[in-house]
Amino acid sequence: MLAAIALVASSRAFVRLLDVGARDGTGEVDAVAPARAGTTVAVSVRPHRIDVTHDSSDVEDVATLRDRYGRVHDDLRISVTDRCNLRCVYCMAEEGMTFLPRAQLLSFDEIVRVARVARDLGVRAIRLTGGEPLVRAGLVDLVARLNALGFEDIALTTNGTRLAALAPALAAAGLRRVNISCDSLRADRFATIRRRGDLATVLHAMDVAEASGLTPLKVNVVVLRGRNDDEIPDFAAFARDTGRLVRFIEFMPLDAPGEWGPERLVPGREVFERINAHWPLEAVYEPHRVAPAERFRFVDGRGEIGLISTVTQPFCGTCNRLRLTADGSIRNCLFSDDEHVVRDVMRAGGSDEEIARILRRAVGEKFPGHAINEPGFLRPHRSMSMIGG
Ligand code: 5AD
Ligand code: SF4
Repeated sequence: MLAAIALVASSRAFVRLLDVGARDGTGEVDAVAPARAGTTVAVSVRPHRIDVTHDSSDVEDVATLRDRYGRVHDDLRISVTDRCNLRCVYCMAEEGMTFLPRAQLLSFDEIVRVARVARDLGVRAIRLTGGEPLVRAGLVDLVARLNALGFEDIALTTNGTRLAALAPALAAAGLRRVNISCDSLRADRFATIRRRGDLATVLHAMDVAEASGLTPLKVNVVVLRGRNDDEIPDFAAFARDTGRLVRFIEFMPLDAPGEWGPERLVPGREVFERINAHWPLEAVYEPHRVAPAERFRFVDGRGEIGLISTVTQPFCGTCNRLRLTADGSIRNCLFSDDEHVVRDVMRAGGSDEEIARILRRAVGEKFPGHAINEPGFLRPHRSMSMIGG
């Protein structure tokens, strides 16, 4: 019953989101309006409303988060905020972003509670995301509390602007690894892509993170056609010189301004060919790979790169991820708008079993794939920073 209420609450939350959007006309709102004038966005054939009469959790394996396609979900990505101190072009609008009111964010107690229930259902790895997770105060405490729950891995995705000061404390609290976003190695271009912040700070953060033991360090590069794709060889050289794992990410239809189009992304295959022509690459054999990045090492032994080809070569078949949004909804896919609200269940006095049921239901209803390349794909209502990367 409570689960059904959660689902109704979930669709209400969206109605609210759209209402607010329509009222204040912010950039964020444009992001949630799929049929924005002048933007060609197809309409999804996937149902975005969940059939509350079908409780697939009843038939699912209750001890693990296994879905209808046999995918076991043991990786929970927790967004701690939708705010960010940068405004990357592929993620946010330059002006007019609106953010969740504080009261709607999960408290750390609530986050830890969901994480504990998830752990009991077999989740072994946590990644903290945002927005920019380090703009939320107290992250070190949160890491320590999550670490006390006994996860095998706790990682953080960050833009690197505030990491240098916090890296030693985060590592001491139990953080294992960081992924740092950096889309250009040229200061002027970094500024135009990310609009705020500066390259030197982020490069310094990489050094401090490594010195603090937050390794292997991964560097996320969103490759944008005509903006930074000429830096593919530079980033490959960077990977070779530093030993950092540079991951080239395809631009996904999750940008708040709704400017994504297939012509703006650079397929992972092309990145591979361009690097391989300079420095031959070979695939890193990973028989049980669940991570989205395809890994390639330089044949001469100097480092590695990764390709995250979400759009052109989806890895949905091995997806093991669940997401908890900053405002307390479980999402089973970046590209599905189906959300299952745990926050309101917790605030209404719901039990751990009710939280577990919501997690199982979210997994039980997961689609086989994101369908970006199918006619009729509808970009999700929430943009990347509102979901958690
Ligand atoms: N497409 C691909 N990657 C994105 N990120 C943010 N927005 C997008 C997008 N539209 C990446 C960031 C960061 C991670 C959280 O997600 O670069 O590495
Ligand atoms: Fe901020 Fe990350 Fe989005 Fe850039 S990609 S605006 S750093 S949340």
